[in-house]
Amino acid sequence: MSEAISPGLENVNIKYTELTYIDGINGIMRYRGYDVNELAARSSFEEVSYLMLFGKLPNYDQLNEFKNHVLSNMVLPDYVLSTMKSLPKKSDALAIMQTAFSALSSNENNYQWNKENDKKTSMAILGQALSIVANTYRIKEGLDTVTPEAHGSYAESFLNACFGESDKEKVRAMDAALILYMDHEIPASTTAALVTASTLSDMYSSITSAITALRGPLHGGAAESAFKQFLEIKTPDNVDSWFQKNIIEPRKRLVGFGHRVYRTFDPRLKTFKEYARSLARTQEQKNLLEIATKLENLGVKNFGGKGIYTNTDFYSGLVFNELGFPLYMFTSLFGLSRISGILAHIIEYVETQERLIRPRAIYNGPGSMEYIEIEKR
Ligand code: ACO
Repeated sequence: MSEAISPGLENVNIKYTELTYIDGINGIMRYRGYDVNELAARSSFEEVSYLMLFGKLPNYDQLNEFKNHVLSNMVLPDYVLSTMKSLPKKSDALAIMQTAFSALSSNENNYQWNKENDKKTSMAILGQALSIVANTYRIKEGLDTVTPEAHGSYAESFLNACFGESDKEKVRAMDAALILYMDHEIPASTTAALVTASTLSDMYSSITSAITALRGPLHGGAAESAFKQFLEIKTPDNVDSWFQKNIIEPRKRLVGFGHRVYRTFDPRLKTFKEYARSLARTQEQKNLLEIATKLENLGVKNFGGKGIYTNTDFYSGLVFNELGFPLYMFTSLFGLSRISGILAHIIEYVETQERLIRPRAIYNGPGSMEYIEIEKR
């Protein structure tokens, strides 16, 4: 029986895509043909989002129009902000984000999927997402909620909405993180969005589905868990003994290592590592970086032979921390980055391959049973 199903849908292809190319053997990743690290170094979140949603890199006019459209949509309706604020203070940051998108979906009645609506709604969602994630941080920190102001870029507007300030290097790093995490083919969250979109439900509901899936520890939470390891180790001198006691002896997994697709270093790692180094300004940040570097060397030495190498989450948490974000925000930052990719995938699916996603399950329960009245059971 078991050979007739594919547990975890492993090796099941459910769509064609022109969006993200991954070569897990050689460690290559491209968006519509462009190398992700080159985009992270030379482009911006809004430019790459345009590439994903519209199919090509924009010229100046197209980029400005796109950016203006996105950034003019950062105003959240009062009922969304008050819903977010009404949640318990200890709520998971991603749960606040999913609730906000679910609240926004209440406005959607009989959404008409077509090229024009889809692109317009996507731009609105990108602006609203910025505001939702920034205000999630502010609510959890006990700060007043804000309507973000449009600054030079999406990344700059976001950092300013969170912290009331930003500097050039942090904006560059935020922009790079937003680009690097933007898409990764169809992991669980994007697949959840595709299932919802395939019913021709609306885009807000599709995004809500994606965030609910992202919330699970098997998917979105690895950057947070990797960073927790560094905190637990405390000092670079403890790395060897921690590794021996917590990974080697109990035969446990080092978080931030290994990947279903990559058998070499995750290509996105290169840029995250560079920013983790250049942004480490305080003694504590330098200490964490040294711990991470030592731990990575041990991981590669012990697991590299099996094709288990560092993945992107090993260093992204260091960057998020250096940008000023607390641990609880790491997965929401990943979620914010991923929204353009999810939108591009659901539009690609509905526009070109529209078909209800409805797999089958093989029944292996009892045969015909006779109903017995409750008194007689
Ligand atoms: N540390 C040590 N050993 C590992 C690790 C790791 N992080 N990952 C896999 N291995 C070992 C396994 O123990 C297994 O060894 P064995 O063959 O001797 O039993 C072998 O490598 C293959 O493991 P699988 O479970 O088959 O690998 P799979 O592709 O299913 O797992 C996964 C991928 C889930 C990411 C895994 O590597 C893991 O658990 N990593 C730690 C968590 C993590 O970093 N998650 C982030 C993923 S990346 C992302 O989401 C952006």
